[in-house]
Amino acid sequence: MQDLKGVVVDKQFITEEIFKLKVYLSEKILAFIDPGSFAMLKVEAKGVYLRRPFSFADLDIKTGMVTFYVKVVGRGTKALGEINPGQEISMLLPLGRGFTRRPGKSLLIAGGIGVAPLNFLAKRIIEDGGKVSFLYGVRNARQFIAEIYSKFKKEMEVYCEEPGLGNRGSVRDGLLTKEIMAYDQIYLCGPMGMLKAVKPILKDFPGLIEVSLESYMACGFGACLGCAVQLKNKDGIIYKKVCQDGPVFNFKDVVL
Ligand SMILES: Cc1cc2nc3c(=O)[nH]c(=O)nc-3n(C[C@H](O)[C@H](O)[C@H](O)COP(=O)(O)OP(=O)(O)OC[C@H]3O[C@@H](n4cnc5c(N)ncnc54)[C@H](O)[C@@H]3O)c2cc1C
Ligand code: FES
Repeated sequence: MQDLKGVVVDKQFITEEIFKLKVYLSEKILAFIDPGSFAMLKVEAKGVYLRRPFSFADLDIKTGMVTFYVKVVGRGTKALGEINPGQEISMLLPLGRGFTRRPGKSLLIAGGIGVAPLNFLAKRIIEDGGKVSFLYGVRNARQFIAEIYSKFKKEMEVYCEEPGLGNRGSVRDGLLTKEIMAYDQIYLCGPMGMLKAVKPILKDFPGLIEVSLESYMACGFGACLGCAVQLKNKDGIIYKKVCQDGPVFNFKDVVL
Protein backbone atom coordinates (compact mmCIF):
# COMPACT_ATOMS: atom_id res chain seq x y z
CA MET A 1 0.00 0.00 0.00
CA GLN A 2 1.32 3.44 -0.90
CA ASP A 3 0.07 6.97 -0.56
CA LEU A 4 0.64 8.47 -4.00
CA LYS A 5 -0.33 11.37 -6.13
CA GLY A 6 -1.83 10.67 -9.55
CA VAL A 7 -2.57 13.17 -12.30
CA VAL A 8 -6.09 13.26 -13.70
CA VAL A 9 -5.77 12.83 -17.45
CA ASP A 10 -9.44 12.62 -18.33
CA LYS A 11 -12.80 12.96 -16.64
CA GLN A 12 -15.97 12.49 -18.61
CA PHE A 13 -19.58 11.91 -17.69
CA ILE A 14 -20.53 8.88 -19.76
CA THR A 15 -24.10 8.64 -18.43
CA GLU A 16 -26.21 11.12 -16.45
CA GLU A 17 -24.86 9.75 -13.18
CA ILE A 18 -21.61 7.91 -13.95
CA PHE A 19 -18.29 9.43 -14.90
CA LYS A 20 -15.05 7.86 -16.03
CA LEU A 21 -11.85 9.00 -14.40
CA LYS A 22 -8.47 8.27 -15.96
CA VAL A 23 -5.46 8.85 -13.75
CA TYR A 24 -1.80 8.64 -14.65
CA LEU A 25 0.50 6.95 -12.15
CA SER A 26 4.22 6.86 -12.70
CA GLU A 27 4.94 4.32 -10.01
CA LYS A 28 6.11 0.71 -10.23
CA ILE A 29 3.11 -0.08 -8.05
CA LEU A 30 1.00 -0.59 -11.20
CA ALA A 31 2.29 -4.16 -11.41
CA PHE A 32 0.63 -4.92 -8.06
CA ILE A 33 -2.85 -3.81 -9.09
CA ASP A 34 -5.17 -6.75 -9.74
CA PRO A 35 -8.87 -6.97 -10.65
CA GLY A 36 -10.86 -6.65 -7.43
CA SER A 37 -8.32 -4.45 -5.66
CA PHE A 38 -9.22 -0.84 -5.04
CA ALA A 39 -7.93 2.62 -4.21
CA MET A 40 -9.02 5.12 -1.58
CA LEU A 41 -9.30 8.46 -3.36
CA LYS A 42 -8.97 11.71 -1.50
CA VAL A 43 -11.77 14.07 -2.28
CA GLU A 44 -11.20 17.74 -1.49
CA ALA A 45 -14.55 19.28 -0.67
CA LYS A 46 -16.38 21.08 2.10
CA GLY A 47 -17.71 18.55 4.59
CA VAL A 48 -15.89 15.58 3.02
CA TYR A 49 -13.19 14.37 5.40
CA LEU A 50 -12.60 10.77 4.45
CA ARG A 51 -11.17 9.13 1.39
CA ARG A 52 -13.63 7.06 -0.65
CA PRO A 53 -13.06 3.52 -2.03
CA PHE A 54 -13.23 2.78 -5.78
CA SER A 55 -12.39 -0.41 -7.64
CA PHE A 56 -9.86 -0.39 -10.43
CA ALA A 57 -11.90 -0.77 -13.61
CA ASP A 58 -8.93 -0.92 -15.94
CA LEU A 59 -5.21 -0.54 -16.05
CA ASP A 60 -2.79 0.03 -18.90
CA ILE A 61 0.70 -0.86 -17.69
CA LYS A 62 2.35 0.64 -20.81
CA THR A 63 0.82 4.11 -20.43
CA GLY A 64 0.56 4.07 -16.63
CA MET A 65 -3.14 4.87 -16.83
CA VAL A 66 -5.71 3.55 -14.37
CA THR A 67 -9.45 3.90 -14.96
CA PHE A 68 -12.30 4.26 -12.49
CA TYR A 69 -16.03 4.38 -13.19
CA VAL A 70 -17.76 6.40 -10.51
CA LYS A 71 -21.47 6.69 -9.82
CA VAL A 72 -22.47 9.94 -8.14
CA VAL A 73 -24.42 9.09 -4.98
CA GLY A 74 -23.46 11.70 -2.38
CA ARG A 75 -21.14 14.52 -1.41
CA GLY A 76 -17.83 12.71 -1.98
CA THR A 77 -18.60 11.33 -5.42
CA LYS A 78 -20.15 14.67 -6.45
CA ALA A 79 -16.92 16.44 -5.46
CA LEU A 80 -14.85 13.86 -7.32
CA GLY A 81 -17.01 14.48 -10.40
CA GLU A 82 -15.93 18.12 -10.35
CA ILE A 83 -12.23 17.30 -10.67
CA ASN A 84 -10.53 18.48 -13.88
CA PRO A 85 -7.81 17.05 -16.10
CA GLY A 86 -4.38 18.25 -14.98
CA GLN A 87 -5.30 18.22 -11.28
CA GLU A 88 -3.49 15.96 -8.83
CA ILE A 89 -5.37 13.39 -6.84
CA SER A 90 -4.14 11.67 -3.72
CA MET A 91 -4.58 7.92 -3.76
CA LEU A 92 -3.94 5.13 -1.29
CA LEU A 93 -3.31 1.98 -3.30
CA PRO A 94 -3.50 -0.86 -4.06
CA LEU A 95 -5.80 -2.08 -1.30
CA GLY A 96 -7.66 -5.30 -0.62
CA ARG A 97 -7.65 -8.83 -1.90
CA GLY A 98 -8.67 -9.30 -5.54
CA PHE A 99 -10.33 -12.10 -7.53
CA THR A 100 -8.76 -15.56 -7.87
CA ARG A 101 -8.37 -16.18 -11.59
CA ARG A 102 -8.65 -19.75 -12.83
CA PRO A 103 -8.56 -21.31 -16.29
CA GLY A 104 -11.66 -22.38 -18.17
CA LYS A 105 -15.04 -20.74 -18.59
CA SER A 106 -16.04 -17.95 -16.22
CA LEU A 107 -19.46 -16.45 -15.73
CA LEU A 108 -19.39 -12.81 -14.64
CA ILE A 109 -22.50 -11.31 -13.07
CA ALA A 110 -22.62 -7.53 -12.67
CA GLY A 111 -25.28 -5.26 -11.25
CA GLY A 112 -25.09 -1.51 -11.88
CA ILE A 113 -21.70 0.04 -11.09
CA GLY A 114 -20.57 -3.46 -10.02
CA VAL A 115 -19.58 -3.82 -13.67
CA ALA A 116 -16.47 -1.69 -12.98
CA PRO A 117 -14.21 -4.32 -11.33
CA LEU A 118 -15.64 -7.07 -13.54
CA ASN A 119 -14.60 -5.09 -16.64
CA PHE A 120 -10.98 -5.35 -15.47
CA LEU A 121 -11.42 -9.00 -14.45
CA ALA A 122 -12.90 -9.96 -17.85
CA LYS A 123 -10.00 -8.31 -19.65
CA ARG A 124 -7.44 -10.23 -17.56
CA ILE A 125 -9.27 -13.58 -17.90
CA ILE A 126 -9.29 -13.19 -21.69
CA GLU A 127 -5.59 -12.21 -21.69
CA ASP A 128 -4.92 -15.39 -19.65
CA GLY A 129 -6.61 -17.45 -22.40
CA GLY A 130 -9.88 -18.05 -20.53
CA LYS A 131 -13.44 -17.56 -21.74
CA VAL A 132 -16.01 -15.20 -20.23
CA SER A 133 -19.74 -14.94 -20.36
CA PHE A 134 -20.94 -11.64 -18.93
CA LEU A 135 -24.38 -10.81 -17.51
CA TYR A 136 -24.86 -7.07 -16.96
CA GLY A 137 -27.98 -5.85 -15.22
CA VAL A 138 -29.01 -2.22 -14.90
CA ARG A 139 -32.08 -0.52 -13.52
CA ASN A 140 -32.21 2.03 -16.36
CA ALA A 141 -30.12 3.68 -19.09
CA ARG A 142 -28.57 6.13 -16.58
CA GLN A 143 -26.64 3.20 -15.11
CA PHE A 144 -25.62 1.62 -18.40
CA ILE A 145 -21.97 1.98 -19.43
CA ALA A 146 -22.13 1.63 -23.20
CA GLU A 147 -18.35 1.60 -23.67
CA ILE A 148 -18.02 -1.54 -21.53
CA TYR A 149 -20.79 -3.18 -23.55
CA SER A 150 -18.99 -2.24 -26.80
CA LYS A 151 -15.88 -4.08 -25.61
CA PHE A 152 -17.66 -7.27 -24.58
CA LYS A 153 -20.63 -7.30 -26.99
CA LYS A 154 -19.90 -10.85 -28.06
CA GLU A 155 -19.71 -12.16 -24.49
CA MET A 156 -22.24 -9.87 -22.81
CA GLU A 157 -25.99 -10.00 -22.25
CA VAL A 158 -27.66 -6.88 -20.88
CA TYR A 159 -30.76 -6.93 -18.68
CA CYS A 160 -32.59 -3.72 -17.97
CA GLU A 161 -35.57 -3.25 -15.68
CA GLU A 162 -36.96 -0.44 -17.83
CA PRO A 163 -37.83 -0.92 -21.51
CA GLY A 164 -35.52 0.19 -24.30
CA LEU A 165 -32.19 -1.44 -23.48
CA GLY A 166 -31.10 -5.07 -23.85
CA ASN A 167 -33.41 -7.73 -22.48
CA ARG A 168 -36.23 -6.67 -20.19
CA GLY A 169 -35.75 -7.88 -16.62
CA SER A 170 -33.12 -8.34 -13.96
CA VAL A 171 -29.82 -10.15 -13.77
CA ARG A 172 -31.69 -12.92 -11.97
CA ASP A 173 -33.85 -13.42 -15.08
CA GLY A 174 -30.69 -13.61 -17.16
CA LEU A 175 -29.11 -16.12 -14.82
CA LEU A 176 -32.15 -18.38 -15.05
CA THR A 177 -31.52 -18.72 -18.80
CA LYS A 178 -27.95 -19.95 -18.25
CA GLU A 179 -26.74 -23.50 -17.96
CA ILE A 180 -24.75 -22.70 -14.81
CA MET A 181 -23.02 -26.08 -14.59
CA ALA A 182 -21.32 -25.35 -17.94
CA TYR A 183 -19.06 -22.84 -16.16
CA ASP A 184 -15.92 -23.51 -14.16
CA GLN A 185 -16.23 -20.46 -11.89
CA ILE A 186 -18.53 -17.53 -11.25
CA TYR A 187 -17.73 -13.95 -10.18
CA LEU A 188 -20.20 -11.36 -8.93
CA CYS A 189 -20.32 -7.69 -8.05
CA GLY A 190 -23.50 -5.73 -7.48
CA PRO A 191 -25.96 -4.43 -4.93
CA MET A 192 -27.02 -6.52 -1.94
CA GLY A 193 -30.50 -7.04 -3.45
CA MET A 194 -28.97 -8.65 -6.52
CA LEU A 195 -26.70 -10.88 -4.45
CA LYS A 196 -29.65 -12.07 -2.35
CA ALA A 197 -31.78 -12.71 -5.44
CA VAL A 198 -29.21 -14.88 -7.21
CA LYS A 199 -27.96 -16.80 -4.16
CA PRO A 200 -30.62 -19.58 -4.33
CA ILE A 201 -29.91 -20.12 -8.05
CA LEU A 202 -26.20 -20.63 -7.35
CA LYS A 203 -26.56 -22.77 -4.24
CA ASP A 204 -25.66 -26.10 -5.87
CA PHE A 205 -22.85 -24.78 -8.07
CA PRO A 206 -19.81 -26.89 -7.13
CA GLY A 207 -17.05 -24.55 -8.35
CA LEU A 208 -15.54 -21.34 -7.05
CA ILE A 209 -17.92 -18.39 -6.66
CA GLU A 210 -16.36 -15.09 -5.66
CA VAL A 211 -18.07 -11.81 -4.87
CA SER A 212 -16.71 -8.31 -4.47
CA LEU A 213 -18.56 -6.68 -1.57
CA GLU A 214 -19.17 -3.05 -0.75
CA SER A 215 -19.28 -1.53 2.70
CA TYR A 216 -18.76 1.87 4.24
CA MET A 217 -15.07 2.46 4.71
CA ALA A 218 -13.28 5.00 6.83
CA CYS A 219 -9.58 4.05 6.70
CA GLY A 220 -9.48 1.41 3.92
CA PHE A 221 -6.54 -0.53 5.41
CA GLY A 222 -7.73 -2.38 8.50
CA ALA A 223 -7.32 0.20 11.25
CA CYS A 224 -10.85 1.38 12.08
CA LEU A 225 -12.97 -1.81 12.00
CA GLY A 226 -15.60 0.22 10.19
CA CYS A 227 -16.15 -2.17 7.30
CA ALA A 228 -16.92 -5.52 8.99
CA VAL A 229 -19.10 -8.11 7.25
CA GLN A 230 -20.44 -11.40 8.52
CA LEU A 231 -19.17 -14.66 7.07
CA LYS A 232 -19.88 -18.18 8.17
CA ASN A 233 -17.32 -20.89 8.67
CA LYS A 234 -17.31 -24.27 10.43
CA ASP A 235 -17.34 -22.56 13.86
CA GLY A 236 -20.31 -20.34 13.10
CA ILE A 237 -20.45 -16.64 12.27
CA ILE A 238 -17.22 -14.67 12.05
CA TYR A 239 -16.48 -11.04 11.15
CA LYS A 240 -14.07 -10.01 8.41
CA LYS A 241 -12.89 -6.64 7.22
CA VAL A 242 -13.98 -5.82 3.67
CA CYS A 243 -10.98 -3.51 3.17
CA GLN A 244 -8.31 -6.00 4.22
CA ASP A 245 -9.75 -9.53 4.03
CA GLY A 246 -11.80 -8.59 0.94
CA PRO A 247 -13.42 -6.89 -0.86
CA VAL A 248 -13.45 -10.24 -2.70
CA PHE A 249 -14.83 -13.16 -0.67
CA ASN A 250 -16.05 -16.66 -1.28
CA PHE A 251 -19.75 -16.09 -2.07
CA LYS A 252 -20.76 -19.31 -0.33
CA ASP A 253 -19.39 -17.96 2.99
CA VAL A 254 -21.01 -14.53 2.93
CA VAL A 255 -24.04 -13.97 5.18
CA LEU A 256 -26.54 -11.98 3.14
C1 LIG B 1 -14.27 -1.91 -2.27
C2 LIG B 1 -15.22 -0.90 -2.85
C3 LIG B 1 -15.16 -0.59 -4.19
C4 LIG B 1 -16.03 0.34 -4.74
N1 LIG B 1 -15.94 0.62 -6.07
C5 LIG B 1 -16.74 1.56 -6.61
C6 LIG B 1 -16.62 1.88 -8.00
O1 LIG B 1 -15.79 1.34 -8.74
N2 LIG B 1 -17.44 2.84 -8.48
C7 LIG B 1 -18.37 3.48 -7.69
O2 LIG B 1 -19.10 4.34 -8.21
N3 LIG B 1 -18.52 3.18 -6.39
C8 LIG B 1 -17.72 2.25 -5.82
N4 LIG B 1 -17.83 1.97 -4.49
C9 LIG B 1 -18.84 2.70 -3.69
C10 LIG B 1 -18.30 4.09 -3.36
O3 LIG B 1 -17.19 3.96 -2.52
C11 LIG B 1 -19.40 4.92 -2.67
O4 LIG B 1 -20.45 5.15 -3.57
C12 LIG B 1 -18.83 6.25 -2.23
O5 LIG B 1 -17.94 6.07 -1.15
C13 LIG B 1 -19.95 7.17 -1.80
O6 LIG B 1 -19.37 8.37 -1.34
P1 LIG B 1 -20.22 9.71 -1.28
O7 LIG B 1 -19.49 10.66 -0.41
O8 LIG B 1 -20.58 10.18 -2.65
O9 LIG B 1 -21.59 9.25 -0.64
P2 LIG B 1 -22.05 9.38 0.86
O10 LIG B 1 -22.45 10.80 1.10
O11 LIG B 1 -21.05 8.74 1.77
O12 LIG B 1 -23.34 8.47 0.75
C14 LIG B 1 -24.41 8.83 -0.14
C15 LIG B 1 -25.37 7.65 -0.31
O13 LIG B 1 -24.72 6.55 -0.95
C16 LIG B 1 -24.84 5.38 -0.21
N5 LIG B 1 -23.50 4.74 -0.11
C17 LIG B 1 -22.34 5.35 0.20
N6 LIG B 1 -21.31 4.47 0.20
C18 LIG B 1 -21.84 3.29 -0.10
C19 LIG B 1 -21.28 1.99 -0.25
N7 LIG B 1 -19.99 1.71 -0.08
N8 LIG B 1 -22.15 1.00 -0.55
C20 LIG B 1 -23.46 1.24 -0.72
N9 LIG B 1 -24.03 2.44 -0.61
C21 LIG B 1 -23.23 3.46 -0.31
C22 LIG B 1 -25.35 5.78 1.16
O14 LIG B 1 -26.38 4.90 1.56
C23 LIG B 1 -25.91 7.14 0.99
O15 LIG B 1 -27.31 7.10 0.82
C24 LIG B 1 -16.99 1.01 -3.92
C25 LIG B 1 -17.06 0.71 -2.55
C26 LIG B 1 -16.19 -0.24 -2.02
C27 LIG B 1 -16.26 -0.55 -0.57
S1 FES C 1 -12.25 0.58 6.54
FE1 FES C 1 -11.13 0.73 8.36
S2 FES C 1 -10.92 -1.36 8.93
FE2 FES C 1 -11.83 -1.46 6.99
